[in-house]
Amino acid sequence: MSHQKEPAIIPIITIDGASGTGKGTVSQLLATRLCWNFLDSGALYRVLALAAQKHCVALDNEKALEVLAEHLDVQFIAQENKLPKVILEGEDVTDTIRTEPIGNSASIIAALPAVRAALLSRQRAFREAPGLVADGRDMGTVVFPDAELKIFLTASPEERALRRYHQLLEKGINVNLSDLIEELRERDKRDQERTVAPLKPAADAICINTNGLSVEDVVNRIVTEITRKKAFPVISTLTGMKLVEALEVTE
Ligand code: DC
Repeated sequence: MSHQKEPAIIPIITIDGASGTGKGTVSQLLATRLCWNFLDSGALYRVLALAAQKHCVALDNEKALEVLAEHLDVQFIAQENKLPKVILEGEDVTDTIRTEPIGNSASIIAALPAVRAALLSRQRAFREAPGLVADGRDMGTVVFPDAELKIFLTASPEERALRRYHQLLEKGINVNLSDLIEELRERDKRDQERTVAPLKPAADAICINTNGLSVEDVVNRIVTEITRKKAFPVISTLTGMKLVEALEVTE
């Protein structure tokens, strides 16, 4: 009889939803609070879109994009209280990948099955101890279907566009609000209607409508779900952390 120990399962919380639901900030904050790793899967699609632009690869050239995805020279460097720094082929592209045109190109290439398949193992490689908070569109449905806890965030297009509008204004970028709403609707449609890994909640996901909620409110809701779903003792045993303290709901 073998006395070999089963390899410890590294716990995962997936946070999926459309652009502008606040997923990025919420996931990052939760990962910080838990002292877990963080995957911003959208950044991978954005970096690939930027690499395609850099290497003059057309957004409908699936084969060339697949090869590009397989050989993508990208690094994510964790930063305190900020999204990770993104380095593409030695160049800091952290801000460049956040522009609207790159977001739109990312959404176009994300509809290609070969591109999604090529990025799958890169995303799964983020599953490292003590745990992972994974942010995206298909984290709970495709990439990590065995996640301990799956969250799906929603918000109206108007609220999401308004949040984006304020973010851009803060950066000194002036945009038209109705154009933003229109672009968001278009991107949602493309993300929801694509045949592979469309944007939709996993059957076992908990949906949270973030309309009118602050980032802290949403994180606190998720913390409540962690304890309610009993994922809490599993996570606690696996990480050996004092999770009661880490998860303490802030007022
Ligand atoms: O989350 P984001 O806005 O950074 O993502 C950019 C685009 O990438 C988004 O329009 C759809 C795509 N995406 C995806 O298809 N699957 C993911 N897991 C993450 C992003």
